[in-house]
Amino acid sequence: MHRRSAVRTVLLMAALSACAPAGRPAGDGAAPAASQAGPAPSDRPQNLKVLPDTMSREAVIAVMRNFTNSLGVRCGYCHVPYDPAKPDSLNFVSDAKPTKDVARGMMLMVREINGDILPDIPQLGDNPMQVGCMTCHRGAPRPLTLEDTVLTVARAQGADSAVAAYSRLRTQYYGRGTFDFGERSLSTAAARLAAEGRQAEARRILELNAQQYPNSAGVAVELGRVLEALGERDRAIEQYRRALTLQPNTRPAQERLRALGVQP
Ligand code: HEC
Ligand code: HEC
Repeated sequence: MHRRSAVRTVLLMAALSACAPAGRPAGDGAAPAASQAGPAPSDRPQNLKVLPDTMSREAVIAVMRNFTNSLGVRCGYCHVPYDPAKPDSLNFVSDAKPTKDVARGMMLMVREINGDILPDIPQLGDNPMQVGCMTCHRGAPRPLTLEDTVLTVARAQGADSAVAAYSRLRTQYYGRGTFDFGERSLSTAAARLAAEGRQAEARRILELNAQQYPNSAGVAVELGRVLEALGERDRAIEQYRRALTLQPNTRPAQERLRALGVQP
């Protein structure tokens, strides 16, 4: 964590120092003549296709910091290293990294949403909220939900890998807005797996959810249902009873127990 932010700071300082050469007075830009002339041509960004090409390097870098924060990445996610001997020196002008062009597309999309689409919805009034990179990305390069991620891994690699992926994401992202670690996410993933006939995977995901949320009657009922579907009657009854202990009037648990011929 610390190393990562330190690297980020170093990159940023390098970029910033390139736009404020030593010896130039700090207040230079405040002088009327200088501010009208703008930054010296050599300081100007050279390859802006979306941002106004009159933008100062400093202003561009402020935008870039918003990108790294919103996507939870470093500058090198979109910019290539300039000199392999000096991995910290990046070539910001180059378009060699495909992610840079994806980002341009995203910038145009955001501009259209804020400039054309939202203002065309009169019910939103004169000052609709502005969409930014953070609105969708929330700290991840691909704005997937937790249930999508768990589902994708469970389908492709099985339940154990999905459980491992969940723990990794939890370690990395818990406490931030990137993923919803509430009980709903794993329940949704499990319900979709069960609907696809992947009962064994659904069970494993619900066991994980029950471990995370041992006091949830809802998760106990969901686990009971999947156990029933797997033919594990006694374990299902155990879960329905657990649900009733946690929350005495849990109707679906009472109903399932009656259907199984057991006293709630
Ligand atoms: C999500 C992708 C992304 C990330 C991350 C990113 N950039 Fe950029 N950067 C771009 C894009 C896209 C442009 C070109 C914008 C345009 O065409 O208007 C750009 C342009 C620049 C430029 C102007 C280059 C020139 O001369 O044309 C600089 C300087 C720059 N970035 C610095 C940084 C720094 C420093 C960081 C890390 C703090 C960073 N970028 C992180 C996508 C990114
Ligand atoms: C309306 C939602 C939304 C907004 C706003 C948004 N993005 Fe995205 N972005 C996405 C989606 C969805 C994907 C994944 C597309 C895919 O992989 O199919 C994505 C993917 C990306 C990627 C590629 C990541 C990868 O590794 O494949 C980059 C880079 C990116 N966005 C940058 C940005 C930047 C920079 C902004 C702000 C200017 C932004 N996005 C705003 C929805 C959004």
